[in-house]
Amino acid sequence: MALPSLARVPAPPDPILGLAEAARADTRNGKINLSSGVFVDETGTTPVLPSVTEAERRILAAGRSKLYRPIDGEASFRDAVRDLVFTPEHEVVRSGRVAVSQTPGGTGGLRVAADFIRQTGGGGTIWMSQPTWPNHPQLFSLAGFRIREYPYTDPIGRRIDEGALLAALGEASPGDVVLLHGSCHNPTGVDPSPELWRKIGDLVEARRLLPLVDFAYQGFGDGLREDADWMDGLLRPGLELLVSTSYSKSFALYNERVGALFLVAGSTAEAAAAQSHVKIAIRSNYSNPPSHGGDIVATILADPALRALWEIELAAMRARIKANRAALVEAITARGIPGDWEPIATQRGMFALLGLSPEQVARLREEHAVYVVGRGRINVAGFTAATFGPFADALGAVLAG
Ligand code: LMR
Repeated sequence: MALPSLARVPAPPDPILGLAEAARADTRNGKINLSSGVFVDETGTTPVLPSVTEAERRILAAGRSKLYRPIDGEASFRDAVRDLVFTPEHEVVRSGRVAVSQTPGGTGGLRVAADFIRQTGGGGTIWMSQPTWPNHPQLFSLAGFRIREYPYTDPIGRRIDEGALLAALGEASPGDVVLLHGSCHNPTGVDPSPELWRKIGDLVEARRLLPLVDFAYQGFGDGLREDADWMDGLLRPGLELLVSTSYSKSFALYNERVGALFLVAGSTAEAAAAQSHVKIAIRSNYSNPPSHGGDIVATILADPALRALWEIELAAMRARIKANRAALVEAITARGIPGDWEPIATQRGMFALLGLSPEQVARLREEHAVYVVGRGRINVAGFTAATFGPFADALGAVLAG
């Protein structure tokens, strides 16, 4: 009887990955899995990108060793992803106030960020959008944060409630952390306008808050630079912030666990000092990053031809998601299902929120073998031509009561 008593009580399955497991185990014909954010092509599979295959061939041919990597990853990876996120011309890069760490996926980057903030005496409180990615509250509360929510959209998740958002953040105290989704908001697919980003930036500056930007979907919205438009409003001289990125989606490297944490400090010296604490957070969690995914990303970004190929592949994934959005709205409206569906066609990224009740979500799963997350978050990148119609039929049935 040595385990803590709570360990004897089963925990609920993960709201996203647990659902994906349940979907995999479902033996019904015609099941539709729209749970975790994974891109599928028209055959319903998640291919390895040709740019990745070529990079892997080169890495294998180079016969690198399996030695430990630096705690914060190789400089070649760190510089390449820094330029991808900020561009070499950006003030924060030119002034040398960005420090970068390779992390095990975006989730790893968020956890390192959380530990870094807590261990340097910062923010006991983190503000996150309501709704947000279900792993956000779990991750930050287990890292010791107090969670506060700021309202984000109207109740069905279609339009940002700017007044409510700004009013809530106006209550934040100096040093509080504000978690923001850089683009392709998860779960709503609704992003702030450039004007709203500027207002958020003003508020962050005035109230001396620390932004943490979760930027997991760069390139899945409107383009690599277009999706980084949050920077124009939020970043300003002297402003310090953290950014966590993921290469699971943009390079389809889901199981390689590769991401990065960027720390933008007030000066080069302060960035270096802060990075020394980030390295302690990494060392005490997982010591140093796995190498393969980072090597793939660095190889692709360093070679102009491979990078051009990857950008074409990324654009194709983006175009397919946009086409899926249009096809989904068409399938729903063709059936005359009452609701405000049109905005879904022009949202950004992998997700849309249908604004369903828990009962409706359960009926989708139990009666129609359709798997959606939370209040009806769907992975729009998970449809094939064959599934729009059956999905819309199932949706119509549960909404009809
Ligand atoms: C999602 O939100 O479905 C993805 O980010 C996958 C995950 O780790 O939850």
